[in-house]
Amino acid sequence: MSKDLIKGALDIDPWLEPYSASLISRQLQYHQWLETLEKSEGSLFDFASSYKKYGLHADKATKAITITEYIPDVQLVSLVGEFNGWDVDSHRLEKKNDFGLWQLTIEPVNGDYAIAHDSKYKISMLTAAGERIYRLDPWGTRATFDKYTTLYEGRFWNPELTYTFKHPRPHLNEVEGLKIYEAHVGISSPEPKIASYKEFTQNTLPVIHKLGYNTIQLMAIMEHAYYASFGYQVTNFFSISSRYGTPEELKELIDEAHRLGIRVLLDVVHSHSSKNVEDGLNNFNGTDHYLFHGGPKGNHDLWDSRLFNYSNYETLRFLLSNLKFYVDVYGFDGFRFDGVTSMLYKHHGLSYGFSGDYNEYFNQDLVDNDAITYLMLGHRLLEEISEADKGALFTTVAEDVSGMPTLCLPISKGGIGFDYRLSMAIPDMWIKILKHLRDEEWDLGNIVFTLTNRRHGEKCIAYSESHDQALVGDKTLAFWLMDKEMYTNMSELSPMTETVSRGLALHKMIRLVTFALGGEGYLNFEGNEFGHPEWLDFPREGNDDSYHYARRQFNLIHDDLLRYKFLFRFDSAMLELDTKYGVLLTPQAYISLKHEIDKVLVFERNGLLFIFNFHPTQSFPDYKVGVEAAGEYQIVLDSDSKELGGFGRINDLDSAGNKISFPTLPEQWNNRSNALFIYVPSRTALVLQLKSKVK
Ligand SMILES: *[C@@H]1O[C@H](CO)[C@@H](O)[C@H](O)[C@H]1NC(C)=O
Ligand SMILES: *[C@@H]1O[C@H](CO)[C@@H](O)[C@H](O)[C@H]1NC(C)=O
Ligand SMILES: *[C@@H]1O[C@H](CO)[C@@H](O)[C@H](O)[C@H]1NC(C)=O
Ligand SMILES: *[C@@H]1O[C@H](CO)[C@@H](O)[C@H](O)[C@H]1NC(C)=O
Repeated sequence: MSKDLIKGALDIDPWLEPYSASLISRQLQYHQWLETLEKSEGSLFDFASSYKKYGLHADKATKAITITEYIPDVQLVSLVGEFNGWDVDSHRLEKKNDFGLWQLTIEPVNGDYAIAHDSKYKISMLTAAGERIYRLDPWGTRATFDKYTTLYEGRFWNPELTYTFKHPRPHLNEVEGLKIYEAHVGISSPEPKIASYKEFTQNTLPVIHKLGYNTIQLMAIMEHAYYASFGYQVTNFFSISSRYGTPEELKELIDEAHRLGIRVLLDVVHSHSSKNVEDGLNNFNGTDHYLFHGGPKGNHDLWDSRLFNYSNYETLRFLLSNLKFYVDVYGFDGFRFDGVTSMLYKHHGLSYGFSGDYNEYFNQDLVDNDAITYLMLGHRLLEEISEADKGALFTTVAEDVSGMPTLCLPISKGGIGFDYRLSMAIPDMWIKILKHLRDEEWDLGNIVFTLTNRRHGEKCIAYSESHDQALVGDKTLAFWLMDKEMYTNMSELSPMTETVSRGLALHKMIRLVTFALGGEGYLNFEGNEFGHPEWLDFPREGNDDSYHYARRQFNLIHDDLLRYKFLFRFDSAMLELDTKYGVLLTPQAYISLKHEIDKVLVFERNGLLFIFNFHPTQSFPDYKVGVEAAGEYQIVLDSDSKELGGFGRINDLDSAGNKISFPTLPEQWNNRSNALFIYVPSRTALVLQLKSKVK
């Protein structure tokens, strides 16, 4: 009976059979929680709507303001702020039940709200031990930096005019894969400063749209007191970062993205929380286990942060509401869950090598089933929102290095519910290759293995580099390839050097092979589409609070004399392959050739023929390539074309200016039914399509 719960997963991967008991117990624990919540709260949907009740809320009709908080075990709770001169006695909350629910309604004063919009407030408590403490509202929707206290201060966000969304969520196109632009609002300008939501809307969205990305993954949105944490030390879960502007301005950004047909995912950090007490969630009610695990279990040693207790009822309310809040209020179209490996395992993946042995994923001593239940409830919640919201589809991506089986299968098939996982092994591979191997030593077999080594039936997002590689201490692909010459030799006025020509060629080829072989979705980090020079380094003590490296120099692509524009154009041409012909959401490629001496790689995916010649010097005038479908082929992408910064060694036009076709011969070759001959210059990638299908 209960085996039915995981039948889908077993059908896809029979090797899971010995771990059926673990898989079933995950499903049962999830169903148990779902039932509990439905019984006590009506539905998961209602439970996750708690953000509408908890915290401070204004009633537009009556102008009354109500505050509701969950704070167990304290003696007194009061609301203090600029509105009452921070008086702990004037606005005391009333204890509503024994579980720690406190509430107070503040009637209007002279017909208006008693608390002014954007004014500061805090929650004051008298703990069981008699200590008076002041904290920010865990549900607060606005926090701003105060120069005087050097802390983030909570504010009551209740503007007269709120932004009204004008555009519906873009629909997911059935044949187009997820093409994700990973972006950070603050760095999205060439100037050494913090860019705003408005600037992103005006200047960055058009660039993303022009490139052809259909999804943005917004980083560092949830408020984080420390800018240099890249958003990973969240202090205020319901506040969007005030550094870049107001909540209304972020809504406008997302609405404008929707108008352009671009969906926006939030990088959600539910794996841990900042340790800050004064302006964070830590020690909220005076003890370490409010929403978090108590004791050492509640600390992440490497990240120096606090860990949530996912078996706690109120923690689930808080986190699930947080998801629904971002979907409802800001219009986000899904989430990239950060730090999933840390959530899945009690050891948090810290100095733990995953070998792929299934025992590593199902051993009850290693795995945190409560976190798994939380993730499943989160996915069930998105389904419920989708059902209530005209079938809006939400996308989730897991940042998981461990390769946990079933993570990206629907719950109905016995999975955890994610849509995609990030293929974190791919960027690591490219770095290793560029760091350690001469070009003659590249191992095509290993490259292909890493790009295609993924769980059957579970979708992956491929990427050759993300923000991780861009951050200081690491190096981007462009920097590994061209390094100092990026400062001196990127001008078209200076002669092409060996370093730059190699860099441009390989930068394009690495992206294309990752895109075409690596997954069912593709991701690029802001700036890397044009080989952004330098690393990312946020202002901090160690660099004299400099913004010099906390920016993206989009001006480089607009400078016609610089070669960055070629890399930029290539990105767009590459993404277009998916938009026009369908690459990402199609079955895995058939690889017909990995020639380690010639350094030639040939494969077909959805009828497109991909040919890569990674050889540093050898060009092949009449290379014989196998292909399944017979017919006349034409080149639809040539990485060596002059327009894309190459040498233009292939002339694919005849004397009349028509595109040359490459006819197949009915000859078995590399286990394909047909073959064609084509000139493949060194360090060049070609993509061909049947002439009849060229768009
Ligand atoms: C704080 O909240 C936790 C539950 O989340 C409770 O166990 C603890 O007793 C509370 N501490 C104080 C000092 O009120
Ligand atoms: C986590 O929460 C559960 C349920 O509230 C509680 O029983 C347990 O003691 C907590 N664990 C820790 C380590 O605080
Ligand atoms: C390329 O850069 C190097 C080092 O940065 C420099 O020495 C060299 O003169 C440059 N070459 C050209 C052709 O500009
Ligand atoms: C040859 O191709 C067929 C059909 O594409 C495939 O099933 C078979 O596994 C291939 N054989 C080899 C040795 O790759």
